[in-house]
Amino acid sequence: MDPRAGVPLAPLTTLRVGGPARRMVDIEREDDLVAAVRDADVRGEPLFVLGEGSNVVVGDGGFPGLVVRMAIPGIEIRRDGDRMTVDVGAGEDWDAFVARCVGEGWRGVECLSGIPGRVGATPIQNVGAYGQEVSESIVSVRAFDRTAGEFRTIDAAACGFGYRASIFKRNDRWIATGVRFSFEAAPDSAPLRYAELVRALGVGEGDRAPSVVVRQAIVALRRAKGMVLSADDPESVSAGSFFVNPVVDAAALARVEGLAAERPPRFEAGDGRYKLAAAWLVERAGFPKGWGTGRAGVSRKHALALVNRGGATAREIIACARTIRDGVRSRFGVALEPEPVFVGCTWDESGEEQARQGQ
Ligand code: EPU
Repeated sequence: MDPRAGVPLAPLTTLRVGGPARRMVDIEREDDLVAAVRDADVRGEPLFVLGEGSNVVVGDGGFPGLVVRMAIPGIEIRRDGDRMTVDVGAGEDWDAFVARCVGEGWRGVECLSGIPGRVGATPIQNVGAYGQEVSESIVSVRAFDRTAGEFRTIDAAACGFGYRASIFKRNDRWIATGVRFSFEAAPDSAPLRYAELVRALGVGEGDRAPSVVVRQAIVALRRAKGMVLSADDPESVSAGSFFVNPVVDAAALARVEGLAAERPPRFEAGDGRYKLAAAWLVERAGFPKGWGTGRAGVSRKHALALVNRGGATAREIIACARTIRDGVRSRFGVALEPEPVFVGCTWDESGEEQARQGQ
């Protein structure tokens, strides 16, 4: 365990904003993680766990503590009839792992193709796309419990998985070091539910298709939305979706319907609630694709991604996001919540005020 001092964080994130980490260390073994946590605790330093940096906004002042870059490797496979149990280190690259699953003919995460990040990050916000959520394939998460000072295996049922949610999100207590998945050994996909994907594949809703083909189609859809990281695509300099899709009750849906010129896209969310498309609300509230004249703006390919057009600061990105949030609230009365994790900065203005007063 030998942390480096003053490590710039912007290049380690996909949004490419923010200042340095006071100290940073790459962790490849659980023992080293425990040592790093103890060291930070002894110094009274805050600690943040970074993976691929694809869902974080780092503040311009950087992070005043220890950044642990999760790099624990390993893929262990057990076969039991047509069930595969696969233990994966939190530091493994997510999309390389998905490609492996698809290539081996293991069904369960094919729709989560093309997503940047590391395996350990996927349970944190219960990564989901194209009708699949990672929680559907997770058996358990191995995590270091900072409160108890020991490792725990948390069964999926106790992980509190919901839409972009789990007990791990915005919670310093747990550090995921590994994920146990269970897949069916089958070369075709799970039943396909996402209308856009079904259309692209020319199949019916609920049909299956070869997972290899599904993966290709999804990567193409994501690329068209600027959601595949690529040096050739300036629209991919983002943190993916900047807002979660709001889940509203029937009265709020009726209000949005009354205010909009067209019928808003909506998805049943259970308990008489509806998930609205945040991208749609953003566009209809006056923030079309490509909006913004400065260094921070709305992606030209998808209204839910905010893009750093070159040299933007975290402050500019956050200001842009707050303008959009306020615009959507005043146009439709719907509150948008951010999806990324904020490191060394806050989303909530009152948090900033408190920080200023505390200084
Ligand atoms: N739409 C617009 N304008 C746009 C884009 C979309 O009006 O610029 C409308 C369309 O009506 C479209 C609807 O919004 O039908 C939904 O759009 P899309 O299918 O692109 O999905 P999304 O709800 O915007 C979610 C996830 C994505 C995931 C896709 C595909 C969230 C916050 N985002 O986006 O996840 O890839 O579905 O399943 O749930 C991420 O979390 O970072 C992410 C990229």
